Amino acid sequence: MRTELHFHLLPGVDDGPRDDQEAIELARLAVADGTSRVVVTPHARLAEIEALPALTARLDEVLREASVELDLRCGAELSPDDVGWLDQDELEIIAQGPPEERWALLEAPLVTGDVSLESAANELRRRGFGVLIGHPERSPMTPAATVHELAALGAVIQINASSLTGRHGPQARAAALSFARSRLPFLLASDAHSPSRPPQVTAAASELLAAGIDGAAVRAAVDVLPGTILRHGLSAAHRPGAYGPHGRRLRLGQRERAAMRLARSTQVFLDRRRGF
Ligand SMILES: [Fe+2]
Repeated sequence: MRTELHFHLLPGVDDGPRDDQEAIELARLAVADGTSRVVVTPHARLAEIEALPALTARLDEVLREASVELDLRCGAELSPDDVGWLDQDELEIIAQGPPEERWALLEAPLVTGDVSLESAANELRRRGFGVLIGHPERSPMTPAATVHELAALGAVIQINASSLTGRHGPQARAAALSFARSRLPFLLASDAHSPSRPPQVTAAASELLAAGIDGAAVRAAVDVLPGTILRHGLSAAHRPGAYGPHGRRLRLGQRERAAMRLARSTQVFLDRRRGF
């Protein structure tokens, strides 16, 4: 089951689909791209957070009636400026993962705001949330060193598929490839907004392979790590390198190594359980 963790699918909330029809069309494009589960991530600053679960459930019903087989989860995309004005209950509404390892999608800003990515990520961690860094390759004001420091604290990088396919220009594409080669833990998401800005995860995976990125790392970024952190979460605590560059958890115990071998042989990723 391929999972997308950054996807603007709720109609009429932000700069995503304008109406149900466009949302249905976009959802069909995601399914055609190979995706079967999407976390819907409208821009938090444009959404009424408390309304998002009901809006997600409603769209789920709309898709079901249209025979589109796409599982939806409720989320949001935080900008660094958003974090301070959201209370704890609101963050809980848009966060993912199990109770002990909740995390949120925090975009690397496209324009300079009042709060830096680093400050916002630190606040999220202080408040108990791990961090998925959205499209750092598109943020010229975020130094790569900052992304490396956040990853060392347990954050995972989300690269836009559209950056790899060249939609955001040569600089974003070069930065995306640089992060993919950096051996930091990364995953792909489309950050799709509309049928004219569609899901491109499959095409982006081909771009990575063509650029010489290791096939196991590409598979982890597309098919393994998104579902893994949705299910198992990301830690807010200081846990350097919780996920390795191929999306595999580090510091494995004996039982985890046995599970890893099983996972490799069946193409299913390690089913980590707390207490190992
Ligand atoms: Fe986005």
